Amino acid sequence: MHDVLYVTSEMYPFSKTGGLGDVMGALPPSVHEKGPKTAVITPFYGRMNLDGHKLRLVYSDLPVGYPWPSTTAEIYQTDYNGMSVYFVARGEYFDRRHYYNTHNGDYFDNCERFIFFCKAVLKWARLLPSPPSIIHSHDWQSALVPPYLHFERLSDPFWKNTKSVATIHNLAFQGRFSERLFHESGLPAEAWSMHGAEFYGDFNMLKASIAYSDAVTAVSPTYAEEILGVEFGCGLEDFLTSHSGKIEGILNGADYNVWDPCEDKFLPCCYSADDIAGKQICKQSMLRDFNMSDTLKDKPVFGFIGRLRNQKGVDLLIEIIPELLKKDVGLIVLGEGNLAYEAQLLELMEESAGRMSVQVGYTEDLAHTIQAGSDIFLMPSRYEPCGLTQIYALRFGTPPVATAVGGLCDTITPYPAEDATGFTFAEPDADLFLAAIDQAIEAWNDRKEWKKMIVRAMRKKFTWDRSADEYIKLYRKLGARI
Ligand code: ADP
Ligand code: GLC
Repeated sequence: MHDVLYVTSEMYPFSKTGGLGDVMGALPPSVHEKGPKTAVITPFYGRMNLDGHKLRLVYSDLPVGYPWPSTTAEIYQTDYNGMSVYFVARGEYFDRRHYYNTHNGDYFDNCERFIFFCKAVLKWARLLPSPPSIIHSHDWQSALVPPYLHFERLSDPFWKNTKSVATIHNLAFQGRFSERLFHESGLPAEAWSMHGAEFYGDFNMLKASIAYSDAVTAVSPTYAEEILGVEFGCGLEDFLTSHSGKIEGILNGADYNVWDPCEDKFLPCCYSADDIAGKQICKQSMLRDFNMSDTLKDKPVFGFIGRLRNQKGVDLLIEIIPELLKKDVGLIVLGEGNLAYEAQLLELMEESAGRMSVQVGYTEDLAHTIQAGSDIFLMPSRYEPCGLTQIYALRFGTPPVATAVGGLCDTITPYPAEDATGFTFAEPDADLFLAAIDQAIEAWNDRKEWKKMIVRAMRKKFTWDRSADEYIKLYRKLGARI
């Protein structure tokens, strides 16, 4: 029996492209620990980390009926932190080199892939001995689950007491496809309306999920407000406002089992708020690993980790790098994404060998190395639904310099407050970004006060325990007896 079933297109440690993976690796076990029985269902990707996990085949031919009446899925199960994780397997959809896209763009059949996934989830769940009380879907890839559930519930008593929650991790990705795919999705004709799945003549999967779910959450309170306005609403602001009664913001947490310099298998030396000496050892080791000048050990070194996309303000970062490097500091960048950004960063690295290093690629251990080894973390995001890297940076004693948007506002106490844990600037603008960096360098130079800021940042806690309580409260408000 499962009280809460989480539906997601990625889950750490099995699959991850960003924060969604981290959240799904931590939220379900945190809720599970508090009593409700949780399970997760996610695609079985060809490129997946199954190290140490035993898989059990649950169904070899689950009838899904999409895109052809005879199409089936395989369902696998494994144990993870006391709960079950189920995988939906269908090689032609998920056995690929990447999750959603290559450098040339999105996979052409993303809509079909995730219609298939969402249908398979409900077909499988329909065969459970009893229905989950809550089905909680995440982002556009799982977004058709709430509408399918809504329409099934009208005629099938099995679903009568099951409620749906849809979480928005990033409104910029809505799963917008052509009308033809709506007709293939199996949603009833009545869902093709401005109050349902239709959006300027297109099929919008996220919009459908907002329309037909019982509750909607966004991953920080500030982002939940921001998306109701034109600047961050991505065209859905009026629609979201008309549903604002069922929308709330619940701040993500950090999984301190994975992100804590006290105990981190990727670091040469561990450290904690009680004794930060090890941070300097991590810094020197990072400088060596990245072929950076040894003299930087006594200068501020900046770190950036993230998808090289417009969202993350990578263009602003690129714009300020020449000016930044005049300040006798170091810079390390880890990321992948937009090819033009990758090329520009690599070019800047060549011009500033020894003081700037760029690692293009997705490397989990280097993310830990940079979090621990840098002095100051850069996050000039144009928008940020929650952001996890700044939360990890706080824990690693690496005060962030960040735009005052979304979850960054909810997690950083900006300088010069007495209890400051970082630096923010009002909007994504190169001059404002540089001014905040100057503030950070000045603060870094006051070694005694800087140490105090590091310790304050490290002591800040954004636990999943707190977020899990808020989700459980929401599930109960919807009527779940858990
Ligand atoms: P988003 O989900 O928008 O990408 P978050 O800050 O919520 O941003 O989460 C990003 C996650 O992805 C963090 O765990 C971060 O360490 C990781 N990450 C991002 N880029 C890379 C990379 N190039 N290599 C390793 N980890 C990365
Ligand atoms: C998205 C957002 C990020 C958030 C993550 C996890 O990828 O861009 O801000 O932290 O989801 O919720």
